[in-house]
Amino acid sequence: MSAVPLGVAPRFWKQWVMGRNPVRYLDLLRDRFGDLVRARGFFDFYLVNDPELVGTVLVNKERIVDRVDPRNPIYRRIANIGRSGLATSGPQHWRQQRRRIAPLFGASAIRGFGASMIAAAVEWSERWDARSRAGTALDLKDEMNELSLEVNTRCLFDAELRDDHARLQRWFDAMKDYLQAFPYPLVSAWWFPSPLHLRTKRALRGFDRWAAELIAQRRAAPRAPDAADMITRMLNARDPETGEGMSDEEITHEMLTFLIAGFESTSSALLWTFYHLATKPDVEARVHAELDAVLGDRPLRMEDLPRLDYTRRVLDEVMRQTPSVWFMARTTLEDVELGGHRIPKGSNLLLSPPTLHNNPRVWPAPERFDPDRFLPDAVAARHASAYIPFGRGPHACIGSHFSLQEMLVVTATLGRRFRVVMAQDRFDPTDVRAGLSVYPRHGIRMRIERRAAVPARKRTAA
Ligand code: HEM
Repeated sequence: MSAVPLGVAPRFWKQWVMGRNPVRYLDLLRDRFGDLVRARGFFDFYLVNDPELVGTVLVNKERIVDRVDPRNPIYRRIANIGRSGLATSGPQHWRQQRRRIAPLFGASAIRGFGASMIAAAVEWSERWDARSRAGTALDLKDEMNELSLEVNTRCLFDAELRDDHARLQRWFDAMKDYLQAFPYPLVSAWWFPSPLHLRTKRALRGFDRWAAELIAQRRAAPRAPDAADMITRMLNARDPETGEGMSDEEITHEMLTFLIAGFESTSSALLWTFYHLATKPDVEARVHAELDAVLGDRPLRMEDLPRLDYTRRVLDEVMRQTPSVWFMARTTLEDVELGGHRIPKGSNLLLSPPTLHNNPRVWPAPERFDPDRFLPDAVAARHASAYIPFGRGPHACIGSHFSLQEMLVVTATLGRRFRVVMAQDRFDPTDVRAGLSVYPRHGIRMRIERRAAVPARKRTAA
């Protein structure tokens, strides 16, 4: 393994930036101290920002570098929400769950969700039709949040939200407030009856009841095992080693995990996609040209997706420059050798997709938005761990095929008919709020406009 210098930041060095904008803080550490940095202060950690070391942490050292650390208050808090779900369960239960669930999320299994994704996106474009006629500016963050919650819930669980939308949003808001609250001693203990804890526990109970109802409906009226519905698929899932199925409680915890892990991250990715299209006319023109050539003026079909090559590369570049997830945390279970240095047992390791993806030592001219970085030759020439929007290794995102398919379907369906244009003069994309996902701190005002009809000569397929 190659040696990487260890930069040691002075204690508390600029840690006040972390509270307001942790992505900016990690960038400052990278720029000042290099690709392996020890930071100490309110929170002690090592920032790992070199592709080879990132690969070592995420892929090669799985057994001695774990994400589960019951001593860590932030982990305990996430686990109070995710419970036995994939993102928070301990190693033994996680291994069994991953074996049972991974096949449900494979690329070919996810293609079965295409028709419901397209139907949801087409319905959304009717809504954009009305919005474009009204011509008023809207906050794209709210719009994409609603779209993503609706599409994820409908497509994952075949559940029509109708009146449930507001309830679900309220429950998730409570859970998010809890996850992001400052960890004060005592009052932050889960048993402490603070208003925030009571609201979060009510939200969990509300969600659990909502999920239990859906599970009961599926049990009462079973569907084909390959239906486009994760509840049905989970009811039929078996551990390939033991043959054991999943309990209703396990299914409920996974449903919440899928929504918490999936809806904001996808909403953030879609928001940044439309932001980049709105601010890079040459990229937008190429996307439109591709959509016009492949779709003409007919709606998207699943078999079109592999032909949307450029649009797909745009999504890759969006998730390079402005990835939704800003950190992954690991704890060393033993002393670990990393880049020629001994990292003691019990250390926190932090990996950050935005800080790695905008590292000029890894990505030449990272500020340039260039989808052709994802042409096959360029990808092959790069270290596999230089690009980690969905993580890597055994804990890599289980929903990556699902969300990439959803992003492509939504971008193509809405992009075929509409443009999104900036409705504010000044916007700083680095001024972000980084909670579970990365969003513009003050939202982003945009207007939806109808595109001109596709000229007949551009239509190649009907
Ligand atoms: C653009 C959308 C998404 C992004 C950027 C994203 C990103 C990530 C990342 C970076 C991880 C790795 C965390 C780590 O190593 O600690 C992860 C894990 C996970 N993601 Fe996603 N995700 C997305 C969408 C989804 C969706 C739609 C689902 C579910 C339907 C999902 C479910 C999960 C689960 C369950 C894990 C934990 C996996 C495990 O530990 O076995 N994600 N995601």
